[in-house]
Amino acid sequence: MSTTNYLEENYSSHPAFSFPGKPYRIDLAKLAAFDTNYKSVANGGLEEDALFEAAKIKLAAQANEIFGEMRLQTNDEYERMFLDELEGQSLRLLNEELGYYQLANKSKYQERSQEARVTALKTDRHFFGEIGAAAVSRIMDISSAEINEFRSRAAQGQLKREDLSANSVPIVGQIVEILNDEFRAQGVLGTVSAYMGFDCRVGGLAIELSVPQATWWRDTLDTSVPPKTMYAHVDESIIYPKAIVYLSNVTTANGPTSCYPGVYEELHLNALQEIIGRVLNYPGHLEDSVLKDYYGKSYHQTMSSSRFRQHFMRLPAELRFNSHMGWDVVPGSETEQKFMDRERVMTGAAGTYIVFDGGRLFHRGGMVVSGERIALQVIFAPAISTPNPSLYRKIISLPRGIVSKIWRLIK
Ligand SMILES: [Fe+2]
Repeated sequence: MSTTNYLEENYSSHPAFSFPGKPYRIDLAKLAAFDTNYKSVANGGLEEDALFEAAKIKLAAQANEIFGEMRLQTNDEYERMFLDELEGQSLRLLNEELGYYQLANKSKYQERSQEARVTALKTDRHFFGEIGAAAVSRIMDISSAEINEFRSRAAQGQLKREDLSANSVPIVGQIVEILNDEFRAQGVLGTVSAYMGFDCRVGGLAIELSVPQATWWRDTLDTSVPPKTMYAHVDESIIYPKAIVYLSNVTTANGPTSCYPGVYEELHLNALQEIIGRVLNYPGHLEDSVLKDYYGKSYHQTMSSSRFRQHFMRLPAELRFNSHMGWDVVPGSETEQKFMDRERVMTGAAGTYIVFDGGRLFHRGGMVVSGERIALQVIFAPAISTPNPSLYRKIISLPRGIVSKIWRLIK
């Protein structure tokens, strides 16, 4: 079965995704042309800024043409608005990704790229490690007031992720420094830099308490048995590798982080399908969206709205992807089994961490059944000494931007 069929099979056999009407038809040659152009930029084929700019304009025009074809087939204004919002966000992300490829200089790191951990990051998209006990206890000392505040909010029923986490409190800066020292000493910063193609350091983080009363990760689809893959997802951005660092001991009961090496690669998504899947949650999500009331999505599960699911199913199979597809998997299906066969569950003592490419590795975590979990969600970002700071600021805008962006990127 080809991969598109493999995703298509999942959605066409899912009762919650069954709607009358056929998907939009698109010219697959145009889609293939977009894919070829995108990959030639991604694979480092362009050295000069002028060529990059030309490639950006061409790719945006090609994507616009494909969306235009679909727009001609819409049944009503709502379908058109869905495509408009999806296209706008897709072009934004496309631009961000191309900016990253323009910044990366992988040949500079060629020598290090043979090291075992760099290879692991390239092939498995993750590796595990542990920070020292002294660093863990320093971080816990600094964070205790914050963690107690989260606990008291949880006791009062304030259970949203933003109630139980913080990424901009003053202690974050101190923890970032401790982690940078640890990761530098362990060679992690060098590994991540070699993988990304520019010098990386810990750029920001969130400290988070997970408790069993929080149920944001549960299934909102009306299925009697939820899939075992609930909340498995890839992140929106491919620019920021991440780490999860445990600050409490974590067992299978208190929300271990899991990952699913190889699943993303096996989907063999084309470039536009992948971009669409990463920004799929936006239509009807932002405050100023004209579709906000029409969809009435609950919290952050984009597929909770039947109207949204119907619009999603109008996309041709070749463009249909949801980066948070764990919730969409048919229970008992081959897809579910594929995920479960690949699952690696990170249990361990405080200090245990995973470094991973959240944009290319399906993962999930923090789904506590009993007890609590305290963890750091860490984001790596280009170091300030990066060779082209003005370009870098243009696409990423550290340090102010990173704080506000962090949750959108790692959720
Ligand atoms: Fe994530």
